[in-house]
Amino acid sequence: MANATATAGMVSLHVPSMRAGGRDMARLGMIRCNCRTRRGKVMCAAPPGSVNGDVLMGNDVSKPRRLPRIVGMGSKLIGCGSAVPKFEITNDDMAEIVETSDEWISVRTGIRKRRVLTGEESVKGLAIEAGKKALEMACVEPDEVDLVILCTSTPDDLFGTGPQVHTAIGCKNAWAFDATAACSGFLVGLITATRFIKGGGYKNVLVIGADSLSRYVDWTDRGTCILFGDGAGAVLVQATAAEENGFLGFDIHSDGQGYRHLNAKTSVGGMEEVIPNTNGSINFPPKKPAFSFIQMNGKEVFRFAVSSVPQSIVASLEEAGLTNSDIDWLLLHQANWRIIDAVATRLQIPSEKIISNLANYGNTSAASIPLALDEAVRGGKVKGGDIIAASGFGAGLTWGSAIIRWQ
Ligand code: ACO
Repeated sequence: MANATATAGMVSLHVPSMRAGGRDMARLGMIRCNCRTRRGKVMCAAPPGSVNGDVLMGNDVSKPRRLPRIVGMGSKLIGCGSAVPKFEITNDDMAEIVETSDEWISVRTGIRKRRVLTGEESVKGLAIEAGKKALEMACVEPDEVDLVILCTSTPDDLFGTGPQVHTAIGCKNAWAFDATAACSGFLVGLITATRFIKGGGYKNVLVIGADSLSRYVDWTDRGTCILFGDGAGAVLVQATAAEENGFLGFDIHSDGQGYRHLNAKTSVGGMEEVIPNTNGSINFPPKKPAFSFIQMNGKEVFRFAVSSVPQSIVASLEEAGLTNSDIDWLLLHQANWRIIDAVATRLQIPSEKIISNLANYGNTSAASIPLALDEAVRGGKVKGGDIIAASGFGAGLTWGSAIIRWQ
């Protein structure tokens, strides 16, 4: 069994002992499930991964876990990747769908084109491609990943797409779940990843933001359909010693009252549709479940974003012990250039420090921050050690920010 080394009490290796909790021991493949009652009766002697001798589908939990696992206090982002659909719709194309113009869209939003899923493409497919690229950049093998967080409001499956993504990437020692927080989704996933790492037992967490809001916009509503595009972006967050921590501060909020300004409600045949029959039985009329189109009060969302985002970034900076002059890059959710510009002005951040690819992709929801980050890193803009102020905001309402040191 590997020995633990402690660096100022901040980083230690996860060493299993006979006193380790059942969960840890099971993860390490040490438990053979020989549970006994007080009377000594064997309740279950089946090996893990089987029920009554039948092998279960899923990860092979009988394999011993790789050792040792770092329990880190800090997190750093060491790789990123992205993927977008092939099909592109320009503003001129939009003008053939609704009454609009390239001029109106680009002046009011900064968007010039967007990508949209077609044919066999899927949110899952984009997420897999982005995730693989992030692992490649991070030089982390899929089986070294402990957790995959798929940040999406538009999964391919209502019950979640994350497990399909982690299995397809080959993260066979990981588990996965979906995190839904609309355009703040990636921020929520990133913060969650660092909390898992801080809690111990997680070394590599793959955070993927992937969305396809094009499936939920009303393509006859010019107030919304011009805004959104599809895409995916991913980062690999790794546990590190506290002194190398690259996740310097964060701030996160939600306000359910603002829900009325931006939503896509379920329109299933709900309980109010259940019809009691005279004989006392209940009649459930067959209804195809669905979501309504995205409803947005653009002006209210705009106002909310330009007031909340600067406050959130200031709060994150305070936690990080930094000021706005320490920011190398401002990386906001790519919703509207006028929002990005207004936030930068309030924070007195010059435009050359803004990362934006909104013009090419529109609002890609949970994908927008990692998609823009990936382009900026691969394009040589963002370099190791750079301080990034990232902020997401959107439906919920939800908003938050994080101060990150890249690599
Ligand atoms: N083309 C031409 N005219 C248009 C279009 C269009 N695509 N859309 C609206 N108009 C018209 C309106 O009908 C209105 O006409 P009127 O004056 O004759 O009534 C006029 O343009 C002004 O419309 P507004 O809605 O007031 O335009 P505004 O300047 O507010 O811009 C926009 C609209 C771009 C949607 C803006 O409000 C915005 O970006 N808001 C923020 C949205 C956002 O950031 N969402 C992020 C979260 S998304 C998520 O979480 C899922």
